[in-house]
Amino acid sequence: DAPLRVHAEARGKFIGYAANTGPLANEAAYRTIAASEFNQVTPENALKWESTEPSDGNYTFAGADQVVAFATANNQQVHGHTLVWHSQTPGWVQGLSAAAMRTAMQDHIATVVGRYASNPAVVSWDVVNEVFDDNGNLRTSFWLNTLGSSYIADAFRLARAADSNARLCINDYNVEGINAKSTAMYNLVRQLRADGVPVDCVGFQGHLAIQYGFPSQVRENMERFAALGVQVRVTELDVRMQTPRDSTKDTTQATYYRNVVQACLAVTACAGITIWGFTDKYSWVPDVFSGEGAALLWDANYATKPSYTAVHDAL
Ligand code: XIL
Repeated sequence: DAPLRVHAEARGKFIGYAANTGPLANEAAYRTIAASEFNQVTPENALKWESTEPSDGNYTFAGADQVVAFATANNQQVHGHTLVWHSQTPGWVQGLSAAAMRTAMQDHIATVVGRYASNPAVVSWDVVNEVFDDNGNLRTSFWLNTLGSSYIADAFRLARAADSNARLCINDYNVEGINAKSTAMYNLVRQLRADGVPVDCVGFQGHLAIQYGFPSQVRENMERFAALGVQVRVTELDVRMQTPRDSTKDTTQATYYRNVVQACLAVTACAGITIWGFTDKYSWVPDVFSGEGAALLWDANYATKPSYTAVHDAL
């Protein structure tokens, strides 16, 4: 049957994956699925600050360029992830004074966004990532502590200055359903737009786990953001479980994937879904969540799982 991207295109949505530059360079099975099944890609790590500017003013774009070249060759759109985040940002940034940190942010956004501004494949950016803590307060990161909350608006304005066309997103986790954190996100986005800050898009990461239940009111949550005039998208979808897999867990996982796809399809403003990888061979989950894994659509041997069928049939 037709690959995921054919069905997604017919629905006017993107279906994407997070690209791992290792296997993307040299693993045939990985490259074949990446090219054939998806029409969108987010570099999993290659556009993070630690990858692009590991020391002050020394930029390295080898990994990012590799992903962009593969995407271009396969007619896929690229989402840049991410410009301003508390994690995977080098120590040299974290220790700067306010004035120096502001300058570093200006230089970084101008350089990284500017590099791809005229590249037709690179269409959107996560300008800020995970600015909230788990209670829906602004996260007490080095960004907030040093610059105050204005760093968020400043980052969006700098990104707009570097690329007048790119779609500029705010991205976070545990904001898929309606809850205190997603309401805080909603209020921030509304305020930023009222202030004329160029926020075009809201990303719901979608790192789900079957043992915690499916978030409530995912479609309604997308709709309330859409009513603010922003595009929405699911940016990092995966559905982990306590390993080992079994058929019961696989079936539950498949319903989670299907529910997310159906929510996006039901909301015009939902542009698409990016899955945070595609094969369990390279998922980030086992490295971060002890005893959990099997979160993706293909197993570690590149065999499709029930969740692949669920996504395929829902699209
Ligand atoms: C993860 C990557 O998948 C890992 O390879 C890396 O070691 C850590 O970061 N939220 C995000 C992503 O916004 O950037 C994270 O990606 C997963 C959680």
